[in-house]
Amino acid sequence: MNFKKYDNEIDEMIKSMTLGEKLGQLNMTAQGGHMMGPDGKEVDMEAALKSGKVGGLQNIRGVKKLTHLQKIAVEQSRLGIPLLFAADIIHGTETIFPIPLAEACSWNLEAVKETAAIAAKEGAAMGVRLTYAPMADISRDPRWGRVMESNGEDPWYNGRITEARVKGFQSDDLSNPHSMAACIKHFAAYGAVEGGRDYNTVDMSEQRLREIYLPGYKAGIDAGAATVMVAFNDLNGIPCSCNSFLLNQILRDEWGFEGFVIGDHTSVGEMVNHGVAENIKHAGELAIKGGLDMDMVSQSLLIHGEELLNQGKINIKMIDRAVRRILRIKHALGLMKDPFLYLDKQREAQWVFRPEYRDTARKIARESIVLLKNQNQLHPLNESIKTLAVIGPFADDNLTPRGEWAFGGSHYDQVVSLLEGLENRIKGTEIRLINARGCNPMDEDTGQLSEAIEAARKADMILLALGEPLEMIGEARSRISLEIPGGQQHMVSELLKLGKPMAALIQSGRPLNLTWLDNHIPTILQCWHLGHQAGHAMADVIFGDYNPSGKLPISFPRSVGQIPVYYSDKSSGRPYKPNLRWCTHYLDSPNSPLYPFGYGLSYTTFQYSEITLSSTTLSRDMTLQASITLRNKGIYRGTEVVQCYLGDVIRSSAPPVKELKDFQRIILDPGESKEIIFNITEKSLRFLAIDLQYRSEPGRFIIHIGGNSQQTVLQSFVFKG
Ligand code: NOJ
Repeated sequence: MNFKKYDNEIDEMIKSMTLGEKLGQLNMTAQGGHMMGPDGKEVDMEAALKSGKVGGLQNIRGVKKLTHLQKIAVEQSRLGIPLLFAADIIHGTETIFPIPLAEACSWNLEAVKETAAIAAKEGAAMGVRLTYAPMADISRDPRWGRVMESNGEDPWYNGRITEARVKGFQSDDLSNPHSMAACIKHFAAYGAVEGGRDYNTVDMSEQRLREIYLPGYKAGIDAGAATVMVAFNDLNGIPCSCNSFLLNQILRDEWGFEGFVIGDHTSVGEMVNHGVAENIKHAGELAIKGGLDMDMVSQSLLIHGEELLNQGKINIKMIDRAVRRILRIKHALGLMKDPFLYLDKQREAQWVFRPEYRDTARKIARESIVLLKNQNQLHPLNESIKTLAVIGPFADDNLTPRGEWAFGGSHYDQVVSLLEGLENRIKGTEIRLINARGCNPMDEDTGQLSEAIEAARKADMILLALGEPLEMIGEARSRISLEIPGGQQHMVSELLKLGKPMAALIQSGRPLNLTWLDNHIPTILQCWHLGHQAGHAMADVIFGDYNPSGKLPISFPRSVGQIPVYYSDKSSGRPYKPNLRWCTHYLDSPNSPLYPFGYGLSYTTFQYSEITLSSTTLSRDMTLQASITLRNKGIYRGTEVVQCYLGDVIRSSAPPVKELKDFQRIILDPGESKEIIFNITEKSLRFLAIDLQYRSEPGRFIIHIGGNSQQTVLQSFVFKG
């Protein structure tokens, strides 16, 4: 998108603005409808709007309220510049979709784009013009509570999902009344906070930063994202809120970003706590010099901008530049032409929570479920089961499936719990459901256990509804333990004594440590927090109305001690060999994760042929084709995500063993086969060399194709350079 095309009009506007009005544009504020000062005290909102002290307002719900505020800004301030209304619409709003990490399990980029587009339709109809999404932070650490908002561990796949979401939110034209501006966050490397502790420090090489952490953000910028939000953390000692290397050099100079950069909530003021700014005034100076345009909530420049100018610490060009970038986006959104385009009560009623959105929510929710284990083929359930006990704290629960960051209010009561989903599914069958809670997820109280055991005794089969409550996941909710929390494991161990067939469903926002469960329970479904249609989606999969197809975008560790564990590691000088002491390994755990990246089972079995290459050598300007035949060997129609990885054998800096390069999502009927072709060119072989230039080097490469990162068929070819 060309955001510069409004610059002439903006220049005229800037000429007519007072300093106070300019500083007002740099101010994003409001909490729950009240404007707060940096000291947390309430400020007279109407007076602030009338005097042009506010550029945008965030997280306020409802067209009525927003229209009232917009009217004051447009009709009662001197220049009448419209406000930009922003909100955290992360995985839907009135219609809630699965949390981002769950959606990433679908590997269905069209569906991911579609859910973002629906969120934009709803958000725009509610008056929101900027969503603080998508998050493109690579996360290889499930202790970090915000892993739920991520797309997992892989730079390339993270980029594809981020791009799909940006296109979904923004469409091709921001002034389209069904779109919202996207915000790529949190720039940069927020997912790498030390120890997985939120807001902690990040220290990493530029090599790793550029190769692993930056590509996701860049994919979002290349897809046209209008705004970027900085991360709370410092990167190699410099807080991201004033990090000129990130904001000026990489984002603007290298990537050509023309939109505006916003702080995170009080992140500018927090530079005082970081220990790089003496006070908020100094923080404002550092932020604007570092390339930040809009301050979220700290009001650093609003309050201190004039003094900083008078003291010669900053100059007016810096302020004008930031104002220009913000006004570009207001123009692109069509706000300058019609500030009330999105503030229409009829549109609000017409475009939210439509039945077809719920159908989409159900489809993506079931595609987000990952079958981790199905040892005795307990799933799909057959209707010979007469009594099914559904036991655990997440069965009769329609709060947890909402997931963190559900910015919706009016339809929470319609979130479908697991129990409701199953009840709807068994109507008209002979199956009887019994339900007991059994334990709590936040404490180890055993008071409900005997009732659960009694219920289980009466059943032919037990479905365990396990997981993690909302209170344990999201921002500022890091954990050092990844165990299934509270009394859940104890409850399962007591139920195991009954010797009945048991299958587990895990509704969590992060990869939990499922090692113990995997040792004891034959069938496990990772169900995440799936949004409005959670219960229906889980029932669809349990009964085989949908054959599970989800694949993990993040490795599930065997224990916290393995973190970080990811598939694209390097072989080391002493690669692992069984029974050898002097090699890279742990004394008390395998190196491999419990479930690897890309992993997920189906009710059917897919057979991969050997790889056929169109040539055993590749030269520049040539395309090498690697093909396999995929066959559905089972009795169910199924979807397989065929993944293509490449490994460089020898190069000038130690290569990862393999890296994901491409994938295809293939649907096959029982007995059906299909040839799948991946194209490999010189570009696929490039890596970031030690001089920080992308290049390819001649030599042998291994191509791996398979249904997950660990079980693949291999072939090698030589790149001639
Ligand atoms: C803090 C979070 O880090 C960010 O992701 C969010 O968009 C802002 N708060 C605004 O709510």
